[in-house]
Amino acid sequence: MNRLRIALTKGRLQKQTMALFETMGLDCEPLHNPGRRLIHSLPNYPIDIVLAKGPDVVTYVEHGVCHMGIVGKDSIMELGRSFYEVLDLGIGKCRFALAVQEGDDFYGTYKSRRIASKYPNVTREFFEKKGMDVSVIRIEGSVELAPILGLADAIVDLVETGDTLRANGLIPIEDVAQISARLIVNTAAMKLYRTEILDFVERCEAGIHANEQE
Ligand code: PRP
Repeated sequence: MNRLRIALTKGRLQKQTMALFETMGLDCEPLHNPGRRLIHSLPNYPIDIVLAKGPDVVTYVEHGVCHMGIVGKDSIMELGRSFYEVLDLGIGKCRFALAVQEGDDFYGTYKSRRIASKYPNVTREFFEKKGMDVSVIRIEGSVELAPILGLADAIVDLVETGDTLRANGLIPIEDVAQISARLIVNTAAMKLYRTEILDFVERCEAGIHANEQE
């Protein structure tokens, strides 16, 4: 079998992906102590793991330098590029939510509103569908600061436990989308490495099924 290369989102998703891989029978030993190394070969399956940030996973897969990728639906929605989205892995579950400072009546005013988000495209699309004209301010992280500092009337951000919102006096008032991790595949790789990719996809499906039984 040809050796595949898969880009995996570093950080929060990494642990859950490794657990899924282990359920699939993949030996993830090299990833338990990765150090600063960014590419790791798995000993018992012909696959190399590339550790990258979510949006870069999309870029590497789209350019075909990685055959596959594991990335949150949040990055896919924001970047909306071309590749096959093959599987919902059922991990990394969270949601995009619209949140405001406690006590604020977001919809109770006609004045134009400013929304801060790390996901400006998702935010714009959400308000376009509502027919609302808002201005979107792009923030790189810790978006919760924007309403506190008076830069925005609301935020659109990922919410997992809700702890970050609560700790900063914000409340979610509406869900924008449900999010989970997806397996994505480069379109040309799907043709060239069909056998290898389908073997991996089947293993993922079995792993997801095993997780669901737990
Ligand atoms: C994400 C998100 C929220 C937080 C939500 O941020 O942007 O800030 O996690 O998680 P919670 O609901 O469990 O509290 P992340 O930690 O990825 O960092 P960032 O804000 O710098 O993007």
